[in-house]
Amino acid sequence: MSEDFFAHPTAVIDKGCEIAKGVKIWHFSHLMPNCKIGERCNIGQNVVISPDVILGTNVKVQNNVSIYTGVICEDDVFLGPSMVFTNVINPRSAVNRKAEYAKTTVKKGASIGANATIVCGNDIGKYAFIGAGAVVTKTIPDYALVVGNPAKQIGWVSEYGHKLQFDEQGIAQCPETKEKYQIKNNAVIKIDE
Ligand SMILES: CC(C)(COP(=O)(O)OP(=O)(O)OC[C@H]1O[C@@H](n2cnc3c(N)ncnc32)[C@H](O)[C@@H]1OP(=O)(O)O)[C@@H](O)C(=O)NCCC(=O)NCCS
Repeated sequence: MSEDFFAHPTAVIDKGCEIAKGVKIWHFSHLMPNCKIGERCNIGQNVVISPDVILGTNVKVQNNVSIYTGVICEDDVFLGPSMVFTNVINPRSAVNRKAEYAKTTVKKGASIGANATIVCGNDIGKYAFIGAGAVVTKTIPDYALVVGNPAKQIGWVSEYGHKLQFDEQGIAQCPETKEKYQIKNNAVIKIDE
């Protein structure tokens, strides 16, 4: 484990965690055994990271988030305050389903808004944006913007988080970076020029 990270004295870090350099872990957060936290991740207040969870580089976890076993967050993922993951589709208190944890991957650069809920087994595409309070019940495509319960797609967003307006040729430009995107067969890709 790198010694080059910050953990507030109230944080609890269990055995076997791998914590890379530049990570910050704030008040009352709990990292459970064998989780892997990539470089420069920021773990807010009152966060629980369950056993074996993997976070990539520069993942930002806002306050009051629990990341359950079976969840993978790739690089640059943003988890908004009090958003909720799940890992059992049909929980019953009297039935042990620990061997059946569903997997959910949040792909590179995706953002999940405050209070959103991700029903397990539905991956979030790269740079997708989940609006505040959404309930995600389906796999979300790359660059998709979704809101509501159940979450419905209302558009597409750039890597910098701006809505994309496509022209007749199916090309859109991010107003901030001027990078171009193409829509084809209802899927969006960034065009490298
Ligand atoms: C999804 C989001 C990015 C859209 O922002 P926007 O592009 O400015 O959207 P607009 O305000 O123009 O809204 C477009 C439509 O979507 C609706 N909408 C926007 N956000 C919504 C949400 N989270 N849930 C449900 N509907 C939403 C609006 O009511 C509006 O509907 P209408 O066309 O019927 O009037 C933003 O509303 C959001 O949820 N951001 C997340 C904020 C957050 O959680 N931050 C955490 C860090 S503090």
